[in-house]
Amino acid sequence: EKGGHEYFMLKEIEEQPAAVANTLRGHFVDHRIVLDEQRLSDQDLRDVDKVFVVACGTAYHSGLLAKYAIEHWTRLPVEVELASEFRYRDPVLDRCTLVVAISQSGETADTLEAIRHAKDQKARVLAICNTNGAQIPRESDAVIYTHAGPEIGVAATKTFTAQIAANYLVGLALAQARGTKYPDEVAREFRELAAMPEAVARTLESLETARSLGGELAGSKAVLFLGRHVGYPVALEGALKLKELAYMHAEAFAAGELKHGPIALIEEGLPVIVVMPSPKGRAVLHAKLLSNIQEIRARGARTVVIAEEGDETVWPFAQHLFEVPAVPTLLQPLVSTIPLQVIAAEIARARGYDVDRPRNLAKSVTVE
Ligand code: M6R
Repeated sequence: EKGGHEYFMLKEIEEQPAAVANTLRGHFVDHRIVLDEQRLSDQDLRDVDKVFVVACGTAYHSGLLAKYAIEHWTRLPVEVELASEFRYRDPVLDRCTLVVAISQSGETADTLEAIRHAKDQKARVLAICNTNGAQIPRESDAVIYTHAGPEIGVAATKTFTAQIAANYLVGLALAQARGTKYPDEVAREFRELAAMPEAVARTLESLETARSLGGELAGSKAVLFLGRHVGYPVALEGALKLKELAYMHAEAFAAGELKHGPIALIEEGLPVIVVMPSPKGRAVLHAKLLSNIQEIRARGARTVVIAEEGDETVWPFAQHLFEVPAVPTLLQPLVSTIPLQVIAAEIARARGYDVDRPRNLAKSVTVE
């Protein structure tokens, strides 16, 4: 059942190329993005003047990535909010607001209550869900299913990467309906997305260092994660995986915030995992992050760097290096998350914990 793996989580990490491919399948027909079970017309999508994304945990991190893509492609303002906070602060919603609710289980109480609140205020609700016929899609105006297959491990892995793919489909569907991207641009973005399962599969082939790192970092008291732009939600997701599986203090920062406080935490031997942007895609961000790595190295941090294949500039500052394939900027999270998932699982394993069933957690959180 576990496909020769000791834990479901490791099997599910390896299923990510298929999870992304299956999520995209059938969504590009006759040169157009099509969404499933669509009870939102093109006119409804054209009327949207603001997008809210609501979700919890890992799904929330995928939502943070949706903001980068949707704003870039559609010029619509996007707010991403923890579902548990959303309805208690009286958000501004009306019939031109699109609320995207992301939930693997489709049963998360906080997310369900958030969409009920949104519907009461006449907003349109689109669910992204991995579970057929669950409550959240049933109460939504439209749904896109992530076809990641059942996820047994409590830690979300393949559903995260599948959610990123689904979120980007929403962005492209909005751009197409609103005309903010020409049809050939939409087609190009979709083709780049559709090439990702192969890049994810290549990333999975070179994870030996991630495996060996588990034992080395297992004794650390804390681990910090740094990223910028789309690397920041990836860092947040890496830290969540480590907390939930290895019961270690793990915290992620937007790298630009370092000098506003967190750099005081850096001390000799503290592991810091850095998600580097592509040197070609975002040269300015790359240069800034490179100087952040130099700063923390100078203060004794033990640097673990996730960087694009062949990015020699990071070599002098990376004590441990994971190379991921070169892909377009918005798609980088689909590859850079993978070593972080493996590192968290391997640290947990080295500490002797049950990777599939971490303490105090349930797969589906049906109470608020
Ligand atoms: O089923 P959902 O996607 O709504 O669940 C949301 C969170 O509870 C979930 O992502 C949780 O954070 C994961 N266990 C993290 O790995």
